[in-house]
Amino acid sequence: MREALAVSRARLFWEQRRYDGVGAITNSHAPAHWQEAYLSAFRALVLQRLKRALGDVRLRRVVDLGCGPGEWTLRYLELAERVVGLDVNLEFLEAARRTAAAAGCEDRTQFLAGDMLAYDDYDEADLVCLGASVQYLDDDDLDALLARLATAPPRGARLYVRTTLASPLRGSYHGNVGYFRTRGDYERRFARQGLEIVDACYSAAVLPAQALRDLLRLPPSWSERLAFPVWGLVCGFHALSLQGLHHNWLLRKP
Ligand SMILES: C[S@@+](CC[C@H](N)C(=O)[O-])C[C@H]1O[C@@H](n2cnc3c(N)ncnc32)[C@H](O)[C@@H]1O
Repeated sequence: MREALAVSRARLFWEQRRYDGVGAITNSHAPAHWQEAYLSAFRALVLQRLKRALGDVRLRRVVDLGCGPGEWTLRYLELAERVVGLDVNLEFLEAARRTAAAAGCEDRTQFLAGDMLAYDDYDEADLVCLGASVQYLDDDDLDALLARLATAPPRGARLYVRTTLASPLRGSYHGNVGYFRTRGDYERRFARQGLEIVDACYSAAVLPAQALRDLLRLPPSWSERLAFPVWGLVCGFHALSLQGLHHNWLLRKP
């Protein structure tokens, strides 16, 4: 019962959220122009990384679960013919539709209102994305969603998951509206559903890694290995004591 109440709190929180810019999504009070600049560079580099990991293939369809105002969803058009964004917040969806119209790509995009736990149209979905949305599901709902995604056709399709982690010292815990899990906790859940990790990286390492690569001309693997400790020294206390870092996985379905 406690868990059920907590889930509705998370849904309610998101359903009632007004859209007044990037802070509505990130829950951060950092200046909006700074967040937008950072996120825009971050999205571009993650997209680059996804393209590298997916290989030279054009995907048929991407489904973005918990799409918010659609910035990521529209970027996925670089990978696929069509994208679908799903969210419980009507204002976010309106903003997403406006951005798609302004970019002239309405015919390739669809923004739907709904709960990701109830959604089941994965036809031709070569990639399903869960960007900063799995932390709003309790353990049972998360496992049920992963099980559904693992068994829905097409076989061998990919999942991209990005979420905040709990620090390994603190362990998994339930925050005000979200569920913070350790990296190991997530990876055990993926393994139980037969989801294989194809690529993984800390979000915090993505931008410094690119900078190290550009400055020192290091190969990607080395710049990524070095970037994480560099960032960790700056923000290590928070990362160790409470919340870990945002992490990204690209998974392959059985
Ligand atoms: C932190 S935002 C992330 C938005 C976007 N994916 C991104 O990465 O910027 C989390 C999003 O998940 C949505 N969400 C939360 N629970 C959901 C649910 N059960 N079904 C569909 N969307 C949900 C929220 O409305 C919100 O837009």
